[in-house]
Amino acid sequence: MSLTDANKSKIRTFKDSFCLYTPVREVLADLESLYQSAEIGGDQLSMLLCGDTGTGKSALIRYFSETKNQNQSESLPILLSRVPSKLTVEDTTRQLLCDLGVFGSSSHRYKNTQSDAHLTSRLLDALRVKNTKLIIINEFQELIEFKGARDRQAIGNRLKLISEEAGVPIVLAGMPWIDEILNDSQWASRLATRRHTLNYLSLSKRPKEYNELLKLLEQSIPCEVENSLTEFEISLSLFAASCGEIRQLKALLTEAIKLCLISSKPLSKQSLSDSFKNLYPGNENPFDLPKEKIKIREVEMHSQYIRGDSSHRASIEPRRLSEVMTLTQILSKK
Ligand SMILES: Nc1ncnc2c1ncn2[C@@H]1O[C@H](COP(=O)(O)OP(=O)(O)OP(=O)(O)O)[C@@H](O)[C@H]1O
Ligand SMILES: [Mg+2]
Repeated sequence: MSLTDANKSKIRTFKDSFCLYTPVREVLADLESLYQSAEIGGDQLSMLLCGDTGTGKSALIRYFSETKNQNQSESLPILLSRVPSKLTVEDTTRQLLCDLGVFGSSSHRYKNTQSDAHLTSRLLDALRVKNTKLIIINEFQELIEFKGARDRQAIGNRLKLISEEAGVPIVLAGMPWIDEILNDSQWASRLATRRHTLNYLSLSKRPKEYNELLKLLEQSIPCEVENSLTEFEISLSLFAASCGEIRQLKALLTEAIKLCLISSKPLSKQSLSDSFKNLYPGNENPFDLPKEKIKIREVEMHSQYIRGDSSHRASIEPRRLSEVMTLTQILSKK
């Protein structure tokens, strides 16, 4: 059986849903205060938003910018941008102009003919015209990973200049190693009061936070729910299946919802088990195990960037998972 258009749209709404659980609310509150400070004007501070892959940085940024940018026809209060693919000072400015909607396409006739100074002044004008109050640069690790220290510094300096001249704070978001920007004392001073990290979920350290997220996710499920996600055994199995990564958790739920909508059945332990089977064929299925046997692993250390040198290539060390924990071990850590 296939999905009707109405059901496809329900699944899409679930995929796009965003849960305001405590860590997210904290970052949003600080983003709001940064935004308000830009409305007041004057000297502006900035913000660092770190988090390993799948912790929800992009989703959070999207939520915040959509909230602020909606119903604005002429202005763009939040400029959401990213590090350009070609890492030069000019391309950084050009990327911002492009994301502001000033350059329609890369084949624009001005592309290679405008001087750097002219580009910068166009950007500052455009930020004023669009009434932009905050610039968010996602995937900032791409700049940190860039090997040429001098170019990296030049781009960092350009962003500082734009922030200062336009009176607009900048949010730098990306993988955990974007905190290397703090080695630059001028950035360290601007980022001193606003550093946030989105962490993977932890059953042993922050069980309430996990439970809060499950409750919110359940509210977004677009079909009947027979077994609540917060039922102890289900919540353990969901954690075992996702190792505390929201991206995996959501993928598993999305597949289960799809199966339920196709078969017109409510979401149950069985549909979660079937979803797991579809996504991870051949793996031990936590939804088919008694709770004492469910194997829980959490992310113990986030991934790291290892800078290269003359004898080693730069590399990314993947996140490290803890040893398998049993229910008794987890409960003893609470
Ligand atoms: N608070 C949340 N509520 C609901 N869904 C979320 C939440 N946070 C993240 N997600 C979902 O988890 C998935 C991964 O999130 P996202 O893409 O924001 O991660 P990321 O930190 O940007 O990862 P990457 O570093 O790989 O870009 C997305 O499908 C997103 O919708
Ligand atoms: Mg992202």
